[in-house]
Amino acid sequence: MVFLFTTTPARAGDVESRVDSLLQQMTLNEKVRLLCGHDNRFTYPVPRLGIPQLQMSDGPVGAHNDGPDTAYPSSIALAATWNADLAMQFGESIGSDCRARGDNFILGPAMDMYRVPVCGRNSEYLGEDPYLSGTIAARVVRGIQSKGVAATVKHYAGNEQEDHRGTESDEVDERTLREIYMRQFEIVVRDSHPWAVMAAYNRINGTYCTANHWLLTDVLKNEWGFEGIVMSDWGATHDEVGPANAGLDLEMPGGEHFTPAKLLPLIKNGSIPQAAIDDKVRRLLRVMVTMGFLDRPQKDSSIPLDNPRSVQTALEIARQGTVLLKNEGNLLPLDRTRIKSVVIIGPNADPGVVGCGGSSQTEPFHSVSVVAGVQKLVGKTVNVIYLPLTPEQQLDDLAAHSLYQPISADASAPLQAEFFDNKELQGSPKFIRGDKTIHFDWSAQTPPPAGLDVQHFSARWTTKITPPADGNYTFALGSHEGSRLFIDGEQVIDLWAGHPFRQESITRKLTGGKTYNLRIEFFSGWHECSVRFGWGAARPVLDSHQQEKIASADAAIICVGFNTDTESEGFDRPYALTSNQNDLILSVSHLNPHSIVLINSGGNVAMNSWINHIPALLQAWYPGQEGGTALAEILFGDTNPSGHLPATFEKRFQDSPAYKYYPGKDDKVPYKEGIFVGYRYFDAKNIEPRYPFGYGLSYTTFKFSDLKIKPALPDGQEFTATVRVTNTGDRAGGEVAQFYVGQDNPSLPRPPRWLVGYGKVFLMPGESKVRSVTIDPSSLCYWDTALHHWKVDAGGYQLWAGASSRSLGVKAGFAFP
Ligand code: BGC
Repeated sequence: MVFLFTTTPARAGDVESRVDSLLQQMTLNEKVRLLCGHDNRFTYPVPRLGIPQLQMSDGPVGAHNDGPDTAYPSSIALAATWNADLAMQFGESIGSDCRARGDNFILGPAMDMYRVPVCGRNSEYLGEDPYLSGTIAARVVRGIQSKGVAATVKHYAGNEQEDHRGTESDEVDERTLREIYMRQFEIVVRDSHPWAVMAAYNRINGTYCTANHWLLTDVLKNEWGFEGIVMSDWGATHDEVGPANAGLDLEMPGGEHFTPAKLLPLIKNGSIPQAAIDDKVRRLLRVMVTMGFLDRPQKDSSIPLDNPRSVQTALEIARQGTVLLKNEGNLLPLDRTRIKSVVIIGPNADPGVVGCGGSSQTEPFHSVSVVAGVQKLVGKTVNVIYLPLTPEQQLDDLAAHSLYQPISADASAPLQAEFFDNKELQGSPKFIRGDKTIHFDWSAQTPPPAGLDVQHFSARWTTKITPPADGNYTFALGSHEGSRLFIDGEQVIDLWAGHPFRQESITRKLTGGKTYNLRIEFFSGWHECSVRFGWGAARPVLDSHQQEKIASADAAIICVGFNTDTESEGFDRPYALTSNQNDLILSVSHLNPHSIVLINSGGNVAMNSWINHIPALLQAWYPGQEGGTALAEILFGDTNPSGHLPATFEKRFQDSPAYKYYPGKDDKVPYKEGIFVGYRYFDAKNIEPRYPFGYGLSYTTFKFSDLKIKPALPDGQEFTATVRVTNTGDRAGGEVAQFYVGQDNPSLPRPPRWLVGYGKVFLMPGESKVRSVTIDPSSLCYWDTALHHWKVDAGGYQLWAGASSRSLGVKAGFAFP
């Protein structure tokens, strides 16, 4: 059966007559002036008609522009709460923050898919499942707009990596687009009527999103009934006629293409129809009339800038979004009546890392680090020992340290450097020379030697080194783009991929006086091009004072992860934590068996080297300004963790379905894993993840029972499913009831099961509650590429309920007529 979604119009009847009357009074010049922004975040006013200048605030985790604001936890932490009511509360809070500042639009929520763990903006997004992402975002939008602020859902569509985002094209088939990468936008547009959509930087199947008629007009406006404005991401408009006719309404930040000087002649000569201009202006006016922008000042000075209600919301998201991933021997919660001392160490311990870098970065009025949070909560009863790391111990930027020293000061024994005029070190070298160091930055100003094309060459350096004494030695390599290091023929650092500057280091035990062969290889495929290498005697991870404190404490809390410099908009991050952080975890856990790791990241990281050495692990995402309070409460049991993963955490990056297609080649990113994204892939291929989608531990235990499904409508096309959740432990706690369905005999490849509903439930010990979900054709449909429609097959389906995609204790069959 072909299935048609319906959308109820967002506007009221009298809105249109007011919009028409304003439009009729406007000159063409005034209309065109409205179509691009100025000063980064404003539209132009038309004072004679009372049309105000509109102001935008960046999002999605803080309404920030001028001055500080409440810094909420990262969006992925909000998704990890699996709490739609909390998402609504978040929308209301950030909406109020906007009103306190006079913002008409907020640039959020952001909802591209978590496709690879290393995407620089995963923390701004809502995970790997379109249903979870779409339904959480829908509530955020409702909350924002209930405060008289227009939400801007972004980035439509397919901005799933930051490397090359401004030029790359997602090569993706129609079904995958509809079911995975556009589905969450469809849910939010149909459900909550956001008044703005931001068109993404990237291209889809060759066409820029800002100039993609199919994406913006055929689907978004015509099929989904979107009545608001499409604005471009900042600088994502590349032309006038294409974007104007494709359905882009507002160029931001403005001033380049949609200017009167450029548009008026094109309207005059018919390249851009007058009707297209009127439609854009009508949409803008419709937003203004519906949201009340014409009838009241947008700034509400009665709302405090540092709003205690917003602070409370930020704290609650951090409490409910933190995910307890490991808790061997019930080490957590720490019992403050029994332990006497706790050590806190790690680069992210103090000050805390509130959010990732880039346009979402929010400066809070005040923030609580893990150190401050723990001290405040238990400081009187437990001796809290904070052990700051020295700059050398952090070594996060190896390039800034003395490791990058000449490899050989002896001009008679330089490195042999071979340069090739291709990216694969193929054929005979174009030329050979001797280098003393590897510390090069080649660009248009300082081009690579011998006329090599900066975007298309490779190089290999070989040398021998002889360490002066037995001991540990660190080797550090960094490059933009790919590089790799071999010691005696064994590859020990692998950065062999197209990416902005990245660095890795390894530490090896070497024998003094013995000679080792080094080989460093590099390629460039980009106009920015650099490579650096160095080695030297390794520094001790911990000094003797730190070692002694760690060994004698009752527990050690290790705060690691990324920060605003290392995980950010604009580039993707490494999969691994820096090697000194990995070493820190190993060294601390070796000294203290009660070691707890707290990670700040927007997604999974490489854990293989240390995961079996630590008993407890908390995924803290970026927990916002109140993160330290929430984490302290979780560590000491004042809050029982109830977050669940909104993305699969794989055992190794290589297991990720998109691994072999990422980051793409020649500006094309094949989305060849198709609809099998995240748990859909792991389940279909039967690959064991480290932590599955939907997973999260609690300090109590829950039981799922009595799964029932029965028809809700006489035509049998809608069902109500219910499940009972019981707290079987001895602590109050929250659990997420997750519902998944799968088709018995699908007529085309489908995942074994997919999420169709969820509900958070808080239970006292022994208490039980029933959670329900409506199952209708929208839960069962797939995109039929022959009909270009959603379709539902009649026949048998299975329904599961449980606490994660891999913990589905109860199951029931049903038939769709
Ligand atoms: C980002 C958007 C952001 C905009 C305005 C762009 O670089 O991609 O998400 O809203 O800047 O700051």
